Amino acid sequence: MPIKEQLLAQMSLPVIAAPMFIVSGEALVIASCKEGILGTFPALSARTSQALDDMLTHIRTELATYKAAHPSKPVAPFGTNLILHSSNPRAEEDLQRVIEHQVPVVIASVGNPAPVVEPIHAYGGIVFADVSTVKHARYAADAGVDGLILLCAGCGGHTGWLNPFAFVREVREFWDGPLVLAGSIGHGASVRAAEVLGADFVYMGSRLLASDESNAALEYKAMVVDCQGDDIVTTDKITGMRANFMRPSLEKAGHQVDKFNNLLDTHKREFDLKHIAGDQKAKPWKDIWCCGHGANESHATESVHHIVTTLKAQYEEACQRETH
Ligand SMILES: Cc1cc2nc3c(=O)[nH]c(=O)nc-3n(C[C@H](O)[C@H](O)[C@H](O)COP(=O)(O)O)c2cc1C
Repeated sequence: MPIKEQLLAQMSLPVIAAPMFIVSGEALVIASCKEGILGTFPALSARTSQALDDMLTHIRTELATYKAAHPSKPVAPFGTNLILHSSNPRAEEDLQRVIEHQVPVVIASVGNPAPVVEPIHAYGGIVFADVSTVKHARYAADAGVDGLILLCAGCGGHTGWLNPFAFVREVREFWDGPLVLAGSIGHGASVRAAEVLGADFVYMGSRLLASDESNAALEYKAMVVDCQGDDIVTTDKITGMRANFMRPSLEKAGHQVDKFNNLLDTHKREFDLKHIAGDQKAKPWKDIWCCGHGANESHATESVHHIVTTLKAQYEEACQRETH
């Protein structure tokens, strides 16, 4: 069966719970898969390769038990995100763990996915690569990956910048395999819209930040619930790569967001950050909190079950609107 159909047959919605450093752990992955959306986590969320091994054992066992107890329910496969850049000293060891555990879906980020494709295919695994430019989409396609994840403007964490309408249509000119759209998708209507546009799945990160099962701190979850699109700041001044953060979190860490400059610079939607004082030790991800443009989709802290149930109802409503 083609990969798209193979995955969808095990899912209740075409949604991939995106990997989020620290935030995505066992609880979020397991809850997502049980609800029929593909749960993923970054290998680096585990402190060591041994801890990754333990996580993979736990996730596999828990999902196998749940599947056996619910044979007629779609239980989605899970995935692990590997950062392939040479700056990740654990890349090789984590890959070995992934191979040993035969992780069903591997998401390759930042770096050439070519070396991981063959060993993952060898055990029947599926490789997706996330990309934020058309050039990198072509490289990943040439490297033999099974699916492409298009990181567009408005993503939580490290973000793309291309408009999704432009990005999907341009990539569809040379890629007819599985395509995942990422960036600010947190409503069932947006999931359907992504399909209409030409994507097969969506990637959903920020919408799950405030879930009960996420490892985000309670204050982080509360901030996501309070924030809206205008509270999201795009800057490369925190990690060196362009990423989206919540303004109150930047301010709490001692960064001043230059609102005036932002108003002038609507072209880039980029803010000038001036470090004024405050907590010099504040670390991105742990203390300075990310969220995408879709912050407004989270109105409360809720269980993954509740979020997926809501998404399904919204998705069905959007599909029905098409037939009227
Ligand atoms: C807190 C946070 C941490 C993230 N960490 C990672 C990561 O470790 N690896 C990765 O490939 N993407 C990471 N991302 C990006 C997501 O996988 C995904 O691309 C993004 O959340 C999609 O956009 P959305 O948040 O608007 O749904 C992170 C995103 C957030 C919000």
